[in-house]
Amino acid sequence: MKTITRWIGHLSLGIFVAGIATGPAAQPGENITNETQVPPYTLPDPLVMEKGAKVWDAPTWIHQRRPELLGLFEREMYGQSPGRPENLKFEVTATDTAALGGQATRKTVMVYFQGRREGQRMEILIYLPNAAPKPVPLFLGMNFNGNHAVHKDPGIPLAHSWLPGNVAGVVDNRATEKSRGSEASRWAVEKILSRGYGLATIYYGDLEPDHKDGWRSGIRSTYLPVGQSEPKEADWGAVAAWAWGLSRALDYFETDPDVNARQVAVMGHSRLGKTALWAGVRDTRFAIVISNDSGCGGAALSKRIFGETVGRINRVFPHWFCGNFKKYNDQESRLPIDQHELIALIAPRPVYVASAEEDSWADPKGEFLSALHADPVYRLLGTDGLAARVMPGVNQPVFSTIAYHVRTGKHDVTDYDWECYLNFADRQFKATIRP
Ligand code: GCU
Repeated sequence: MKTITRWIGHLSLGIFVAGIATGPAAQPGENITNETQVPPYTLPDPLVMEKGAKVWDAPTWIHQRRPELLGLFEREMYGQSPGRPENLKFEVTATDTAALGGQATRKTVMVYFQGRREGQRMEILIYLPNAAPKPVPLFLGMNFNGNHAVHKDPGIPLAHSWLPGNVAGVVDNRATEKSRGSEASRWAVEKILSRGYGLATIYYGDLEPDHKDGWRSGIRSTYLPVGQSEPKEADWGAVAAWAWGLSRALDYFETDPDVNARQVAVMGHSRLGKTALWAGVRDTRFAIVISNDSGCGGAALSKRIFGETVGRINRVFPHWFCGNFKKYNDQESRLPIDQHELIALIAPRPVYVASAEEDSWADPKGEFLSALHADPVYRLLGTDGLAARVMPGVNQPVFSTIAYHVRTGKHDVTDYDWECYLNFADRQFKATIRP
């Protein structure tokens, strides 16, 4: 009875109503992994302005609603990021035209954010397929363990910055040969190259070490105004800082004649999937955005309480999002936004949301529902949106402008995922003429 009353209450708000809990009532903050326990929730309509006016046409979306929504995500969740630094400098530090047995050209590029070698910097590792005509389309993604972890290739320089497993104050954080290739199963390098795409990756620790005090030695510290000792409530969090790094890589690609900077697909897994989404939302130069198992704070709905929640993510990873996001700990219903609107902010550009069947922490269904509820915006902008009304079965990818799959297996990036991303990119880029 209680459930029904709440359900009617939500109806009167006049937006979406979804989910009716039939199982035992869940307590705030409890980790729900049983569908019958998901409490009812209401999603904001992406096509309704904050003041209640309905968005009926593309210009209103582009000029009014999109900026309004983007502002809300910046202020309430990811935080506000700076633009391109004035003194951004690139240095191609090495080029090997016979990498990976001759299949690829490997380049390493150092990006200096303050225009000098001693300042903050990140290193981009780039593989370009030798057999493909230039410029090539390219996948760009951040890695978790250093560029040298994505492949056994002895020519990749070892990471120069903080490595996971180390906490603030620990200085002995040097990468060693032992970790070369340790993340290789997640990067189908040869497969990507054989399909005519380049692959570029950056170690996320180059932007900011992933712990609560990481910002002190990362890029965010350099933007703190004199006299301010902590980020303010709406200042960028770590996810936004990593995403900012992806945009700086795109700045470099615009200068590299071998790369088609108009055909860069930004991709990321898990926390780096959240990062890829935010990068793709803020930077409309990214042609395709791919979220691999990004979960809470990524593609999964926040108001649908299942798996990881806002309160839990903010308590365990207080540095990922901005200070304001903490207001919504165990109070998801008060959020003025939800993640389907994040996907909608990518429209009309192609977006791929991918889940894994055993990844209940990331809430595969919540990820699918985000893709689904972004559909009206994609359609308003003249695309085919998402070509599914119900969640597809495992390993049955849906390839519309919003693409989705849930594959068998656990939280990871697999060759199957890459196969799907490559097929999707082929379809999307085939329609555009390569310069
Ligand atoms: C944790 C976290 C997730 C995140 C994941 C990852 O599980 O709770 O939100 O996506 O780490 O990045 O691997």
